[in-house]
Amino acid sequence: MTNPNLSINIAGIKLKNPVMLASGTCGYGEQYSELMDLDELGAVITKTITLHPQLGNAPPRTVETPSGMLNAIGLQNVGIEQFLYDTFPKLKKLTYAPVIVSIGGKTVQEYINLTEILNNVKEIAAIEVNISCPNIKMKNGCMFAQDAKSTHEVTKKVSSLAKHPVIVKLSPNVTDIGEIAKAAEEGGADVISLVNTFSGMLIDIDSRRPKLANVTGGLSGPAIKPLALKLVWEAANSVKIPVIGMGGIMNYQDALEYMIAGASAVVIGTANFIDPQTYKKVIKGIEQYMKKYKVKNLSSLIGSLR
Ligand SMILES: Cc1cc2nc3c(=O)[nH]c(=O)nc-3n(C[C@H](O)[C@H](O)[C@H](O)COP(=O)(O)O)c2cc1C
Repeated sequence: MTNPNLSINIAGIKLKNPVMLASGTCGYGEQYSELMDLDELGAVITKTITLHPQLGNAPPRTVETPSGMLNAIGLQNVGIEQFLYDTFPKLKKLTYAPVIVSIGGKTVQEYINLTEILNNVKEIAAIEVNISCPNIKMKNGCMFAQDAKSTHEVTKKVSSLAKHPVIVKLSPNVTDIGEIAKAAEEGGADVISLVNTFSGMLIDIDSRRPKLANVTGGLSGPAIKPLALKLVWEAANSVKIPVIGMGGIMNYQDALEYMIAGASAVVIGTANFIDPQTYKKVIKGIEQYMKKYKVKNLSSLIGSLR
């Protein structure tokens, strides 16, 4: 069999393979360039950028859990101005891989402002609208992604303005993921991605204090994979737009499960902290699987659950 075709076009985002790095788990990409060949990736998704620089939460803000980790970084980032002046040009010099810029805000207006600023930057492959960070809440204590109306509102505002394809990143901390996925689709999202982290906490029994200074944080890693996989499958069955799947992907088998469940591409997060070469093994493994089962194009794999 000739070499299988791993390339995929997701709502105009051309990827040479379906494997990307998750927002927040590889800095802005450039910190990881010594450990990875970024050019080999389908795309790099940057740490979420906000309108103004943010210091994030007080430490400790990461802690290991059985088969995963909790984090409460609190969207520490340099802010959009510094990002565009310094970080993004450095990253673009380092790699040909498409760069997807993740944006976050506390109000709809902040998302609008960020979208307008990014409209001036041609070299961006897409924007990922992070409305699902468990460490950043709206005034009512919820994330945008926990409410269908708010999801629709922010998606509509961003999508109607954006010159780049819009990916809306959803939260697993909801009662009906299909409803939220549809709200994003109806708001004009080109793509949805999920899952962000699951809200969680841990307690140190000697001090009887929470292990995270923020008390609660977001759980990621292999512990969440079956939960996240089900949500991706449900979301993919609720919308017609492409879905990007993530949550606990550690190897090519995990990635294939997501694709068979309906994800057009997959994202590697927590695994980067254990083995930054995971992406390489996942790409190779998908290719070998396609050869073994004589799958010529990725598209015939996506949503092929029997
Ligand atoms: C330390 C850490 C920081 C993260 N920061 C962000 C972020 O800035 N923006 C975002 O959308 N997701 C962020 N995430 C969530 C990941 O992008 C991903 O959605 C989640 O971890 C699930 O994938 P995984 O189990 O493969 O890590 C972060 C996750 C971790 C572990």
